[in-house]
Parts: sequence; C-alpha cells; structure tokens
Amino acid sequence: MAPGARVGSPPVADVLAEAEEFLRLFHAERRLPGVAARVGQAREEIALTGTYRHTSEELVYGAKVAWRQSARCVGRVRWSGLRVRDQRDVTTVAGIARELAQHLAVADNSGRIQSVMTVFAPDLPGVGPRARVWNDQLIRYCGHRCADGSVLGDPAQVAMTDAALRCGWRIPPVPGRFDVLPWVVETAYEDPTLVEVPRDLVREVALAHPAYPWFEELKLRWHAVPVISNMRLRVGGVDYSCAPFNGHYLSDEIGTRNLVDPDRYDQLLPVARGLGLDTSREDTLWREHAALVINQAVLHSFRQAGVRMSDPHTESELFMRFCAQEERAGRPVHGDWSWLNGSVGWAALHAVHHRYYDTRVPNPNLWPPEGGRGSDGVAELTLRQRHDAARGRED
Ligand code: ARG
Repeated sequence: MAPGARVGSPPVADVLAEAEEFLRLFHAERRLPGVAARVGQAREEIALTGTYRHTSEELVYGAKVAWRQSARCVGRVRWSGLRVRDQRDVTTVAGIARELAQHLAVADNSGRIQSVMTVFAPDLPGVGPRARVWNDQLIRYCGHRCADGSVLGDPAQVAMTDAALRCGWRIPPVPGRFDVLPWVVETAYEDPTLVEVPRDLVREVALAHPAYPWFEELKLRWHAVPVISNMRLRVGGVDYSCAPFNGHYLSDEIGTRNLVDPDRYDQLLPVARGLGLDTSREDTLWREHAALVINQAVLHSFRQAGVRMSDPHTESELFMRFCAQEERAGRPVHGDWSWLNGSVGWAALHAVHHRYYDTRVPNPNLWPPEGGRGSDGVAELTLRQRHDAARGRED
C-alpha cells in the first residue's frame, strides 16, 4: 500500500516493514543501542495484535521527524524543538477537551508561540480512529450563511458551521465576522459532542497599519495560533488520527491568503479603496499594492501585540538553513515547491523559489483527512458506529 494509505486493514507486512524502518531510523539518529531486540519485540507484538505501542521516546521523535518530512511546511528548521505532549491515555471527550484547552495554553506561551503537538490514542488497526476532532483547526471563525446567499465571516467554514449547528450549537445572538467556532469531538465510545472553546485561551490581534489610520476601521483581526486538528500523524506503521499540532504564523498566511483570497475574506478591494488606488485596470498593480499594505498591517499589529510571527524574508533564509542541515546529514530535502512558495511573499525575491525539492513523501509524516467527515456535510458512520460494527464482526 502507498506510504500514507489507510483503507481497511493495513496488511501486517506493511506495518512491520514501516515499523522496522522507523525503529532503525530512531536508533541510528539518536545513537541508541539495542535496535535488533526492539525490532524483534515490535515484530512479535504486530504478529499478535496487528500493531505495537511506541515508547514515549519513539513517539516524541517520530512526531518530530513527521514535521521534518512535511513537504508543505516552510518552517521546518524548528523540527527538533517541537514539544510533544503524549496523551495517548486520554480517551474520553471530556478528557480530550481538557487537553485541547491545555494545548492552546502551552502553545500561546503569553504570545511567544511555541510549536506543540498533542498526541491522543492511536487508531485501531482495521477499524479506524479512536478519537477525532471535526474542526480543521482548533481556532477558526464561523461562516454564517445569509439570506441573500452571501457569507458573514469565513466562507471556508460554512460546512463546519453547519455541522456545529447540527450538533446542537446556537449561533451567537448577534452573528459577526469573527465568531470562534466550537469544537466537535467524537470518540469510539461517545457520539460527536460540542465543546465551547475557552475564550480566555483564544488570543486575537486587531489589525492596524503604522501609516494608515483608516485601516483600523476595516475592523480586521486574526487569531494568534494556527492549530491544525484534522491531520493524521503516521509513525512507523501506526496512525494517530487525533494529534493536533501548531507552529506560529507567517505573515502571508493571514495577509495574502486568509484575508485576501476571493473565497475567504476578500479584502483587496476595500483596502485598495482606502488607499485611493485606480482599480479600473490591472497594470496599476493595485492588487499587489493592497496586499503589501495588508501584510504590513499584519506584521506591525502582531509585533505591537507581542505575538510571535514570521516575515517572508526571514523564513526563506531559515528554510535555506534547514536545507543545508538536511543535506549535511545526508538526507534529501522533501518539499512541495508550490506550497513552499505559495506561502512566502513575492516568490522570486526569496531563495526558497530558486531550487527544487525531493517530491517523495515518506513516513513518518502528517496526512490530510480522508474526507467524508461530518464537517464536509457528508453522511458517514460515527466512530462509535464503526467500532460497534467491528466488534460485531468479531463476536
Ligand atoms: N495557513 C493556515 C492558516 O492560515 C495555517 C497552516 C499552518 N501554518 C503554520 N504557520 N504553522 O490558518
């Protein structure tokens, strides 16, 4: 099966091969003895149960390597500094909700955002996840569908907003453009459950521009920490479908994409108007001008608020340092050129643009969700139904 694949029961041979490859990498890179014994032990456990339990050290290192090999991420120079919270024993919705809140607190670090991953119980082989969070990030803004067909808030979150409503959530009395979505958490034993996000843990930054006082009147803001909550961590043949992780923001993610994409907040025109630009023709480069001003506002406001944020120049330089490190260690630099450049300023100004990357995608890695989740509005079995069906097959 392909490296990230997970459909039905993974053939035991695949799990074994991946386990052995990872355990060898772990022992070699950490210069640890006893690899043969550990591989033998994992082999026995896999033969008996179809899977094996990572030691805490293996899990922590595997999560770091998954980041190091994430082709789309330009911030990977920081991979070895990832703080991994091993919460594999937490399996209830209430426990998971508590640890998600704790994740936000640890990541926030009074604005000096730290990279954190919280790992919950691994998937059951042949059955599926034991827990999952429906939201794609722990902090996201609602997309409210209006009567005239327009969307108030983030259009990318309309489906998730609908899913929360189906789970019993109530829209705030006065809906706004930046209403924080509740979490929907489900486990193998509990139905999808709504959890209100503790508001005191959601740091946000209101945007202002150092040279244009009118910018504030646009009333734009963004949250401080992007915590991806729907990707699957795969380490040595084991899937962890519930393993939220975060880094800190790069200005473009907010200033060029979230606030600017036509199918997101679409703010180019209002900013161009504020600047008095001629938007009647493309060759005035009004779009580039307005986007630059929004990026300046993002960088300025986060700096003023004391919230960690990267700029494209610094990030490109750091990524070059990462490439050099990897090459010195004799490893290929895995990368998806379009993603690496899509998030770094005016691409050709930066070194990231001017080279190619190894396009293979090895494990450990982080994989996008397989689809068919509640948030997509697609009817699908709950985890509980899936696990009950699997138990029924066994009886
Ligand atoms: N681009 C996504 C967003 O703006 C976040 C992706 C992860 N970004 C990061 N800096 N770790 O919400």
